[in-house]
Amino acid sequence: MARRLLLLLLPIILTSSATASKNKSSSLLPLPDGPDPCSGRRIHIRWLPARFNTHLLLYCATAFPLADPDSKSTPACASLANHGLGPRTHNGTRSWYRTDARLLEPFFHRRLLERACLVARPAQADAVFLPYYAALDALPYVLHPDLLNSSALHGLPLARYLARNQPRVLARRHGHDHFFLLAGTAWDYSQPHDAEPRMYGTTSLLRLPELANFTVLTLESRTWPWQEHAIPHPTSFHPSSLPRLRSWTARARRSRRTALMLYAGGVSRPSRPNIRGAILAECANRTSSKSNNVCIVVDCSAAACALNPVAYMRPMLRANFCLQPPGDSPSRRSTFDAIVAGCVPVFFEHAAARAHYGWHLPRGRYDQFSVTIPKDSVVMGDVRITDVLAAVPADEVARMRERLLEIAPRVVYRRHGSAADLRESTKDAVDLAVEGVLRRIRRRVSALEDGHPDAIYELEDDDGAH
Ligand SMILES: *[C@@H]1O[C@H](CO)[C@@H](O)[C@H](O)[C@H]1NC(C)=O
Ligand SMILES: *[C@@H]1O[C@H](CO)[C@@H](O)[C@H](O)[C@H]1NC(C)=O
Ligand SMILES: *[C@@H]1O[C@H](CO)[C@@H](O)[C@H](O)[C@H]1NC(C)=O
Ligand SMILES: *[C@@H]1O[C@H](CO)[C@@H](O)[C@H](O)[C@H]1NC(C)=O
Ligand SMILES: *[C@@H]1O[C@H](CO)[C@@H](O)[C@H](O)[C@H]1NC(C)=O
Repeated sequence: MARRLLLLLLPIILTSSATASKNKSSSLLPLPDGPDPCSGRRIHIRWLPARFNTHLLLYCATAFPLADPDSKSTPACASLANHGLGPRTHNGTRSWYRTDARLLEPFFHRRLLERACLVARPAQADAVFLPYYAALDALPYVLHPDLLNSSALHGLPLARYLARNQPRVLARRHGHDHFFLLAGTAWDYSQPHDAEPRMYGTTSLLRLPELANFTVLTLESRTWPWQEHAIPHPTSFHPSSLPRLRSWTARARRSRRTALMLYAGGVSRPSRPNIRGAILAECANRTSSKSNNVCIVVDCSAAACALNPVAYMRPMLRANFCLQPPGDSPSRRSTFDAIVAGCVPVFFEHAAARAHYGWHLPRGRYDQFSVTIPKDSVVMGDVRITDVLAAVPADEVARMRERLLEIAPRVVYRRHGSAADLRESTKDAVDLAVEGVLRRIRRRVSALEDGHPDAIYELEDDDGAH
């Protein structure tokens, strides 16, 4: 099964790669008398041996199910379909997929192959993309008991490969122009090398000195990210044309929202009081009475929602506010599902989103499209979420939803091979991630070229134009 899917996938990845490099000249030629459209935006996709990327997809039959033993809804290898977007949710749809976030790495690779301004020679490139499937490469270390004690080695074979093969590519800018995607939270990959005992499910990739100058895209960053930058968790919505995007946002805009708020997530009561427990208590009180449509709870226990967007997207269309308490980590995919559904997200701490996604969501304008209720005030019983949200006037909710649907295209991962109308009219999560990387690399490289390499470590990440 795994092998067959890989064979289906490989030729597409390989052919598009060949075409992209053979035909790069077409996108490189400056317009007759205009500015060079590729100036500062040239990317070289470094070729890597298959053990760093496509061969890792072979783990789908063995390692993926281990990583998520509760996920019974879809055989894991099926998630490789559509370059990692997964199979469509049903036959009639062109836009909705059962997307497994762990496969964002091959998908991102596929999308980069579509970009204009790819160059075959690293010396011409402003940035070097490494098609390394980093989180998939971690699976053996984090799942195999015999390898757990070696998990500090994750990434070392790549570092050695880059140091030995065409070493000039890496040495030219000390790696400051290199980037790759790690489809996970930075915290899981930044454990100290000498931690004893090794923490189950983690590696030390982001602490490898050899990779320290690279920019790594992650789904959540550390408190003081220097190396990584966070990009949105992928949702299940991957439109391929502008009409498809617009018809969905129109549906979200006019949807009749009869419930005040919604919570989608685990429903077991935590042993210690926390924000999730407070939400469940408020919802337990208010869901029972039929006349009082205050709270919808979508039970996502046992990975019931993971590959089944219908389970939560329909309810999200019926709610005004979607609650986003921290789960295993502060950020959650559900925040992005809510944005796509036009359901105003309610955060309980900045670590849920504001601290991470500056390239995609306007950090200074969260009040215009979300509500923040400090978690301590809820857990201590000083405020009730229901009261805070019920007090927001209806026209204010409508305004927030409008802002939300305006920014939704920025967090969507549009389908590969999508129509030009969509590509040209909106910037999606991949476009904005690559623009952010290019801005960051440009600043670092000019610091290097100006002879102030130390300045690199003082550079703040700008948030781009919002
Ligand atoms: C290369 O680009 C040119 C101009 O855009 C196009 O006409 C041609 O079909 C492309 N060739 C390939 C192999 O894609
Ligand atoms: C979807 O289409 C395939 C092939 O056309 C068919 O085998 C399958 O039964 C269809 N599934 C549903 C749920 O209609
Ligand atoms: C891993 O290390 C711990 C302590 O550091 C040790 O107890 C354990 O036996 C080791 N496991 C393996 C498989 O070597
Ligand atoms: C990282 O960059 C600095 C200059 O900014 C350089 O001195 C150092 O050698 C680089 N580290 C690696 C591992 O390339
Ligand atoms: C639940 O309802 C009871 C009785 O109406 C009330 O005393 C209690 O404060 C409510 N709890 C929450 C968390 O709203």
